[in-house]
Amino acid sequence: MTSTGKELREEVRRRYAESARAVTGEGGDGCGCGSGACCADDSAASAVGSTKFGEVLYEDGQRGELPDAAVLASLGCGNPTAVADLHEGEVVLDLGSGGGIDVILSAKRVGPTGLAYGLDMTDEMLSLARRNTAEAGIRNAIFLKGYIEEIPLPADSVDVVISNCVINLSTDKAAVLTEIARVLRPGGRVGVSDVVAEDRLTLEDRAERGSYVGCIAGALSKSEYVAGLEAAGFEQVEITFTHQVVDGMHAAILKAVKMESPEKKGLPVIQPAAKAGCC
Ligand SMILES: C[S@@+](CC[C@H](N)C(=O)[O-])C[C@H]1O[C@@H](n2cnc3c(N)ncnc32)[C@H](O)[C@@H]1O
Repeated sequence: MTSTGKELREEVRRRYAESARAVTGEGGDGCGCGSGACCADDSAASAVGSTKFGEVLYEDGQRGELPDAAVLASLGCGNPTAVADLHEGEVVLDLGSGGGIDVILSAKRVGPTGLAYGLDMTDEMLSLARRNTAEAGIRNAIFLKGYIEEIPLPADSVDVVISNCVINLSTDKAAVLTEIARVLRPGGRVGVSDVVAEDRLTLEDRAERGSYVGCIAGALSKSEYVAGLEAAGFEQVEITFTHQVVDGMHAAILKAVKMESPEKKGLPVIQPAAKAGCC
């Protein structure tokens, strides 16, 4: 990763550490967590109102199952647990798990014979997520510290990868998609919510509409996302816009399936890039 990429990632980490501290009352800038405005910067939030990000995207029934701090810390742009068809006994991985809302909901869906992993680079978010998970009485969840570009899990170890408004924040999206393909079992599924741009928008157009840390400037376009997923070894790729967050940019649901055997289709076989193990 370039030094600019590392600096941007550090800026993202600082921003979400502050969001976690705002929820726990340990400081932060009062970024509006709970108003659904956290993943958006001021320009995007004011342009679209406060109903496009955060806890309002979960059904009342789901919010009722969760600790208040998990709901307050919700910074996503969708509800990936509603799109990922989770089954009892499955292993789920949430990339950029934040305050843990989707890990808690997934752990309940896969039940005691299943397992939900949350992966995040921000210590403050990991502490908040572990606290929320304990408060929810969840025992089948594990939080890992690490980068979504270098997932600290072995190859072919996960049934479903979910993520909520995080991939747009990565400065190396090809690495993220390759890593998702590596950790998924053949036939494994992706169910992700993310901000996605219409193809007509250039990188400059996207940057004019909102900041990188606010989940806008780093968003891929729809065709860039499809091409990236296909290059990483996915098929049945579907991207559906759910609601516009700023002009020409939408919260979207992404679904895809890891090919059973990419080599049979003449595609390069993805080599393991990260070692197993975690913190
Ligand atoms: C917009 S918040 C979304 C949190 C959560 N998914 C939700 O819906 O509330 C982004 C989260 O992703 C984490 N994150 C961002 N970039 C990351 C990266 N490259 N590797 C690991 N975690 C990352 C941040 O620390 C933060 O917790």
